[in-house]
Amino acid sequence: CGITGYLGFREAYPIVINGLQRLEYRGYDSAGIVLTSTEDKLKLFKTKGKVAELKKIIENNNSTGNLALGHTRWATHGIPSTENSHPHISNSGNLAIVHNGIIENYDTIKKELIKRGYTFKSETDTEVLVNLIEEVQLKNNCKLGKAVQLALTNVVGAYAIAVYDISKADEIIVAKLGSPLAIGIGENNTEFFIASDASPFIEYTKDAIYLDDEELAIIKLGKKIRVRKINDDSFVEPYIQELKLNLEQIEKGGYDHFMLKEIHEQPNAISDTYRGRLLADKGIIKMGSVDNNITKFLNAKRIIIVACGTSWHAGLVGEYLIEEFARIPVEVEYASEFRYRNPIISKDDIVIAISQSGETADTLAAIKLAKANGAFVFGICNVVGSSIARETNSGAYTHAGPEIGVASTKAFTTQITVLSLIALKLGNLKGELSNSKFNNYLQELKLIPSKVTEVLKINTEIEKIAAIYKDAPNCLYLGRGFNFPVALEGALKLKEISYIHAEGYPAAEMKHGPIALIDASMPVIVIATKKGHYEKVVSNIQEIKSRKGKIIAIVTKGDTVVKEIADHVIEIPETEEAFTPLLTTIPLQLLSYYIAVMRGCNVDQPRNLAKSVTVE
Ligand code: G6P
Repeated sequence: CGITGYLGFREAYPIVINGLQRLEYRGYDSAGIVLTSTEDKLKLFKTKGKVAELKKIIENNNSTGNLALGHTRWATHGIPSTENSHPHISNSGNLAIVHNGIIENYDTIKKELIKRGYTFKSETDTEVLVNLIEEVQLKNNCKLGKAVQLALTNVVGAYAIAVYDISKADEIIVAKLGSPLAIGIGENNTEFFIASDASPFIEYTKDAIYLDDEELAIIKLGKKIRVRKINDDSFVEPYIQELKLNLEQIEKGGYDHFMLKEIHEQPNAISDTYRGRLLADKGIIKMGSVDNNITKFLNAKRIIIVACGTSWHAGLVGEYLIEEFARIPVEVEYASEFRYRNPIISKDDIVIAISQSGETADTLAAIKLAKANGAFVFGICNVVGSSIARETNSGAYTHAGPEIGVASTKAFTTQITVLSLIALKLGNLKGELSNSKFNNYLQELKLIPSKVTEVLKINTEIEKIAAIYKDAPNCLYLGRGFNFPVALEGALKLKEISYIHAEGYPAAEMKHGPIALIDASMPVIVIATKKGHYEKVVSNIQEIKSRKGKIIAIVTKGDTVVKEIADHVIEIPETEEAFTPLLTTIPLQLLSYYIAVMRGCNVDQPRNLAKSVTVE
């Protein structure tokens, strides 16, 4: 879910509705806004559906006011409906709340509150929380800040919340545990912004505070923000940081969709990931976070990579890269499985956590578990200052810039870029990779951004292929070696945004099951680049052909063999086998994109998904 709010001298509605639109990547099954103005204390608008729906509802109503809270939801407790959407109001009608996260013990609290006469309109855990705060305040006759603090000590779960009292509308109380919360501060404390990330307020202020877990902030007009620890009541001096984000980075810049923009940003994004790190002409890879912990890396008995979704696929490529170059055993785990299966972790292990958002709840929990067991945890994140970036012992940012499209693209290729740098560096330092080989790899790596640009030019050809297969009910993606994870990622991209069922498989493994699905109507996308077990893949393609499957092959430029057999070929420039995922991924992203557009799907906000999954 995404939350945002404003308190100050401007009209709050335009700021908050705009902010919600920027946060929609976090969830978009329902949305709501509460507004307070001097003449009208409580204006509440909520609806099932997207922020655009909410906008329509508010259009013909009075939306004035200098205080507002907004919410865009990704349902956890209770179906997406108007009743279940936020903000929620307490029984007295005095307190308004927006919440991102899950209150796990809400049922017990709810039963208690019902006994005390409280009633509930929704099925949400959030409505329970706002009434708990009200009950605590009435019982203790205390200020709202204190009541929120006391209520939260009774809560198990995760939250980022913003609450205010409509009879005292110059103050908002916010608190965080597990879910992110940023506060933007206007000049001389004359206005404040709150949001799940800084994007809703970057055009108004560059000064922001990111709350840490178990912190509560009292935001009062004209006053300095006060931050205190929820559990021990101590005050914390808030660190005001200067935001580097700018408006242009979070706008579409002439592209129809964020996803397309982000696909096309990949040459620059990869260059930005290299910048200052890949010093090919000097024969050096410089990575402060690895250099500073180099003994740990060189002595590691094992590397465990934890991640979810697309980041997990990048982790799989990382396994191939690190084992190939550095010869350190690697295991790749879904964070959600790792955290609950009592894994064997030792202090000689390095855990690498990969996450675009740096907020994925399962990955965060896996990190905490690994740390508690003595492992050194290294993060690969895109979002600067995110929870995972802060929780890990050390780490490297991908520097891909904001990724807004829910389907991850540039985050994936830049994660692989960081993993390539680490693998090569360790390989060279461990003596597994001679200086001359190492140098050759560095020179080749330097060429990748321009080769990605070349792949992006085959746009129109891919669009034609998309038009032929857009109505296919199923699709199979095959690859071997370094390109097996790319096949998984290609299938994920297609199913995420076009809702066509797709499966990724190791090409040879196809014989053990998926081959049964192949008939004349089944498109099979095969990654068949030179060097990557080419002959073996060609045999696999023959097996598909014999069963009349339609073959779309990704081949190295100049290929003649596959061209003879496949129905369509997409040519990519030649590179080292280990770097092919950075190129082969691109046509698969474009293919999914065009198919989804042709099917009329919402590419940037596919149904049921969210970009940042802050619940487990
Ligand atoms: C969600 C997104 C995916 C993403 C995954 C992991 O499911 O829709 O695109 O790969 O979360 O997110 P992370 O931010 O940890 O990389």
